[in-house]
Amino acid sequence: MAALFTLIKAIPVLATCVIAANYPPIPVDKTTPVQQRIAISGANAISIGWNTYEHLAKPCVQYGSSSAALTLEACSSSSVTYATSRTYSNAVTLPGLAPATTYYYKIVSTNSSVEHFFSPRTTGDKTAFTMSVVIDLGVYRADGFTIEMDQTKRDTIPSIEPSLNHTTIGRLADNIDDYELVVHPGDFAYADDWYLKPHNLLDEVDAYEAILEQFYDQLAPIAGRKAYMASPGNHEADCEEIDYTTGLCPTGQKNFTELHESIWSNHAYCLLVYVGEYHRYGQRQQSSDAREASVLWALRCPNQQLEFLEADLASVDRTVTPWLIVGGHRPWYSTGGSGNICSSCQDAFEPLLYKYGVDLAVFGHVHNSQRFVPVNDSIADPAGMNDPQAPMYIVAGGAGNIEGLSSVGSNVSYNAFAYADDFSYATVTFKDENNLQVDFIRSSTGAVLDSSVLYKAHTQ
Ligand SMILES: *[C@@H]1O[C@H](CO)[C@@H](O)[C@H](O)[C@H]1NC(C)=O
Ligand SMILES: *[C@@H]1O[C@H](CO)[C@@H](O)[C@H](O)[C@H]1NC(C)=O
Ligand SMILES: *[C@@H]1O[C@H](CO)[C@@H](O)[C@H](O)[C@H]1NC(C)=O
Ligand SMILES: *[C@@H]1O[C@H](CO)[C@@H](O)[C@H](O)[C@H]1NC(C)=O
Ligand SMILES: *[C@@H]1O[C@H](CO)[C@@H](O)[C@H](O)[C@H]1NC(C)=O
Repeated sequence: MAALFTLIKAIPVLATCVIAANYPPIPVDKTTPVQQRIAISGANAISIGWNTYEHLAKPCVQYGSSSAALTLEACSSSSVTYATSRTYSNAVTLPGLAPATTYYYKIVSTNSSVEHFFSPRTTGDKTAFTMSVVIDLGVYRADGFTIEMDQTKRDTIPSIEPSLNHTTIGRLADNIDDYELVVHPGDFAYADDWYLKPHNLLDEVDAYEAILEQFYDQLAPIAGRKAYMASPGNHEADCEEIDYTTGLCPTGQKNFTELHESIWSNHAYCLLVYVGEYHRYGQRQQSSDAREASVLWALRCPNQQLEFLEADLASVDRTVTPWLIVGGHRPWYSTGGSGNICSSCQDAFEPLLYKYGVDLAVFGHVHNSQRFVPVNDSIADPAGMNDPQAPMYIVAGGAGNIEGLSSVGSNVSYNAFAYADDFSYATVTFKDENNLQVDFIRSSTGAVLDSSVLYKAHTQ
């Protein structure tokens, strides 16, 4: 009797475990758009991406330059999913936009509202503007944004709704009028860290998908209004943490499935000057994941990554586009010792960055904020910030995620700033043709932690 009673009592506990995944509720109207995000899709075009809990035969977006007159409509037949996803990812490109103009748009649904975005500027537009840089972002809620490994740095939020409680996402929302776009070179939701929560262990597929849904819902107030330019990091690979070769990696979590079959499929990420070093030059190059990834990358971008990068860098007419910024996930300049550095990336890419006069290189992967003086081959440029030949580098990986912040660790002589006390991100302001300002922002308070201006003559 006692045993039976225990068993009966245990069932609800077990049931709680089994349905542990914190999925957002499915709306009654399954055409309701969720996870909205937009991206620049070449000159004069914006791509609108969103998910729905049913397949859409013909995803459409109405738009126009006034919220009262959405006179234009663009549609596609792009509504895709993959085996373990609950949602369909829809994408529609709005072509022929006037530059630097506020457009209003409504995703066509029986339950959607009007949003707005600012169209891409014409190449050579000299107007000052700011972009936000967030990397290694992560999500709030039970399966995501809690940092048990370091209680002193843990946000004390007991119960997190999928709203704006992520301090970095919240700051990006509060400051939404202060920047024109966001760049995010890798490590989005950390869904592949689902196994860090014991209650997820029986629930791998749903735990993973639930974290993704929460993340993209939380990001929608930002990504649905500002061009959100994303490229992959190691946590998109996936099964970064559970070795793929063990056979424990669940279906749907391999080979960039989430990235290329769903959420960012509206992002022409191969066309960005992003150094996707995991695909050919990462330290995990020998793993199956990296091999799979390089196959994917080779399919997406038939040229090898180096050829792609060189051609892209060479294609920029610096008399029209003075500033050249490269983004990638894994850095080759970092404090904290060799474990934080991708030296094969440095071997492969640094000579190209120098050759093409890249002004600033933006990386993450190390979970803190760092700024380096202009440097090449680990030697500081003697000109410093006053018209150097070498690129300036930053690490902007402190945006917040389940793995927590990384300590600054051992210093290097060419470091100028490093911060790991709280979550933070960077802004890059193109002041004019010659002056570029980089600020690091403390997410919880909005305080500027570090500010620097790079001067480049750009005389070619
Ligand atoms: C309509 O969308 C809102 C969110 O935008 C959602 O909360 C609500 O449940 C949806 N309504 C229906 C009937 O699905
Ligand atoms: C989370 O953010 C919402 C606004 O988006 C706010 O109403 C709520 O109080 C916040 N919750 C906590 C615990 O900070
Ligand atoms: C990985 O994805 C690519 C692109 O969809 C596909 O062609 C390839 O077969 C996949 N590789 C594996 C091992 O599933
Ligand atoms: C720049 O660094 C690369 C190594 O990444 C080195 O081969 C090259 O000689 C350096 N260039 C200059 C001008 O110092
Ligand atoms: C690292 O050393 C440089 C040069 O001495 C210094 O400017 C910088 O503030 C140091 N960084 C840290 C995080 O201590």
